Amino acid sequence: MTEIFTAPIFPTGVVAIAEADKKYSEDFNKNNFEFDDKWDIVTKQRSNKFESVLDHPSLSDMKSWIVKTASQFLKDTIKLKHKKLFITDSWININNKGGSQHRHNHRNSILSGVYYIRTREGHPKLEFHRMHPTDQYPYISLNEHYEYGNPLTTDTVGFPTDQDTMIMFPSQLYHSHPPITIDEERINISWNALVHFEDKVEDTPGAGKYTYRLKFEE
Ligand SMILES: [Fe+2]
Repeated sequence: MTEIFTAPIFPTGVVAIAEADKKYSEDFNKNNFEFDDKWDIVTKQRSNKFESVLDHPSLSDMKSWIVKTASQFLKDTIKLKHKKLFITDSWININNKGGSQHRHNHRNSILSGVYYIRTREGHPKLEFHRMHPTDQYPYISLNEHYEYGNPLTTDTVGFPTDQDTMIMFPSQLYHSHPPITIDEERINISWNALVHFEDKVEDTPGAGKYTYRLKFEE
């Protein structure tokens, strides 16, 4: 038997899980917020768009922890040099039995995250997908021929949604929530974030190569 060395290359993304340093869910009160009535409120409610819920005074501690933790992840794991990370948008999702979230990603954002305020055992995982189905065709699908659970070939990976934990991911990653099958609501706060880049990039390979520089305004 020949020994074969393998190396996964160019991962699609990195998903990070952080357990909160205190139960910020205890600061959350649904009555502090307004919910959009365009959703089917039986299975799903979402807070009003363009009102960043993390700016509500009751959630200021949670917001501080999220910003600190997200910046730490970008610095230590992704190695993105930046002066400051800032939340551009945040919203509340309440899902009941039957509630699901279709496959999507987040635009105009570098890093996204979900803080789970209320979850129960039996709630479905947050699933990440290698790509969007419409990006995949035409191609020959080998999915049904692969052995189950091979991390090198799977196109979906699920992460548990434990209460008072946060899942962070690069915003371009496609993700979804399968329908809830238990009689327990799930509440989470989702957010998007951008960064202020460092002014000096001279020590970065390729620095000075570009004739433009991106700058995000808060
Ligand atoms: Fe999302």
